[in-house]
Amino acid sequence: MSIKKATEKSKDLSSSLPILFIGGDLGDRTLAGKAFRRHAMDVILEFVPSGKEALDIIRRQSAVAVFVNQSLPDMDGFTFLREVKKLNLPTPLIMIMENDDEKLILKALREGAYDFLNKSSRSFHTLPVVLDRCLARHEVVRQKAAKEKLITESKKNWLAILDGITDFIFMTDTEGRIIKANRAVSNHFGKNPKFMAGVQYHDLFGTELPNETGVATANQPSTQEIAIDGDTYLISSFPLQYDNKPTTIYVLKNITEMRRLKEQLHHADKLASLGLLVSGVAHEINNPLTGVIAYAELLEMELAEMESKIKVKKILDSAERCKKIVDNLLTFSRQQISTKTLESINDIIERTLDLRNYWLAVHNIQIVKDYHNIRAVFVDAQQIQQVILNLILNAEHAITSHNKQDGKITLVTRYDRDKHHVVIKISDNGPGIPPNIMPMIFDPFFTTKPVGVGTGLGLSISYGIIMEHGGTIRAESHEGEGVTFAIELPLPSKNLQ
Ligand SMILES: Nc1ncnc2c1ncn2[C@@H]1O[C@H](COP(=O)(O)OP(=O)(O)OP(=O)(O)O)[C@@H](O)[C@H]1O
Ligand SMILES: [Mg+2]
Repeated sequence: MSIKKATEKSKDLSSSLPILFIGGDLGDRTLAGKAFRRHAMDVILEFVPSGKEALDIIRRQSAVAVFVNQSLPDMDGFTFLREVKKLNLPTPLIMIMENDDEKLILKALREGAYDFLNKSSRSFHTLPVVLDRCLARHEVVRQKAAKEKLITESKKNWLAILDGITDFIFMTDTEGRIIKANRAVSNHFGKNPKFMAGVQYHDLFGTELPNETGVATANQPSTQEIAIDGDTYLISSFPLQYDNKPTTIYVLKNITEMRRLKEQLHHADKLASLGLLVSGVAHEINNPLTGVIAYAELLEMELAEMESKIKVKKILDSAERCKKIVDNLLTFSRQQISTKTLESINDIIERTLDLRNYWLAVHNIQIVKDYHNIRAVFVDAQQIQQVILNLILNAEHAITSHNKQDGKITLVTRYDRDKHHVVIKISDNGPGIPPNIMPMIFDPFFTTKPVGVGTGLGLSISYGIIMEHGGTIRAESHEGEGVTFAIELPLPSKNLQ
């Protein structure tokens, strides 16, 4: 391989990379070297005799540019161009043509040559000028490619961020058609992300979104709550001029769980202050009430006359009912000390059912049991039994008060592996709870039962007990289709078992 270096003072070519000059005879090389020296360009000219050797060099190292003669000893210049093209190199190639044949010049440009010059001693003088022009053009192309790469990467990053967010984010046109949506939307609706564009959002969500024209009102961002599929979403819409067209960006956050926790907290707060008041009153009433009951019992025994005996018995019955209410109030205000032991939830349910089996059979209410074999829970069995009993009593009442003939109460126990919780579900096929009273059912003294039938304390006591056990209780009901009460109780950590 013959290599000759020509280094002169440079104007703008200060790179330490070489310029390859492939093929040509000694005369050509001398002329080329001279041309660069005359232009006072500081370049390293590497003369490579054959195409194959040149390809080896190119594969190993970069070059500022490559001058290749149309005919080489081992291949023609066009084959060389094709081989270089395969390598997808950023180096500009300039072909030194044998003559002015336009067809061949065009072929060279098509095969990937950046430029060409004619092989005559005169045109060799223009070699540095051609190189300069090539490099300038190459630099523009390089910068454009770098910019495009940057844009693609930044687009990819933004997409990754948007797809990583679990809230629904999407953009619509003025007709409410989706222009773009993040992965949370396509995943939720089980759609291929590629086919989201053009879909009408109300076909997806089954509801109109705020600013249904698709553009946020008066071009102002807005936030409000909407219900979708029984869940509550906080929806924010932002107007945006995109591609010279008015569009809206929507962000939907599911706040159902957050809402429930807030309500629970609010309820617990309410219960705590009411509990304090109630426990004071209950204690005050308890003592005189014990006196009333004791003396009424004595009087009943002492009286001989039947009519008076019946009257005193009525006093006794009423006083005992008061006592029951006071006891309930004391439970509600959690003045009773709970004693927790490891218990089987299925056994507690069975023991509770034993208390009601006769009554349920008499009223023709079917009991369906679906128990899972779940680990023991750390609970106060008496209190949990009271909760189950309250729920069964409510279910019974709901069924019988509506004269339902095929009454059914279903009891389910499950283990929720993810939450490490025991789940108890008690459902009935009664009339259900109307949505307007649903938010109040756990409130103390809330009842829809006639005076003297219900105190409205059953569910609030149950709520207090379950909270005290670190669990949750909630009701789900579709009017006319009965109610399901779901209780979740945490399981003790494994080392407690
Ligand atoms: N399974 C159910 N089906 C329909 N409504 C129900 C059901 N369970 C509770 N409710 C409604 O919730 C209200 C409150 O229930 P809660 O158990 O707290 O009080 P109550 O049953 O009315 O009175 P108490 O339990 O003190 O005898 C009920 O009055 C009823 O309107
Ligand atoms: Mg009740």
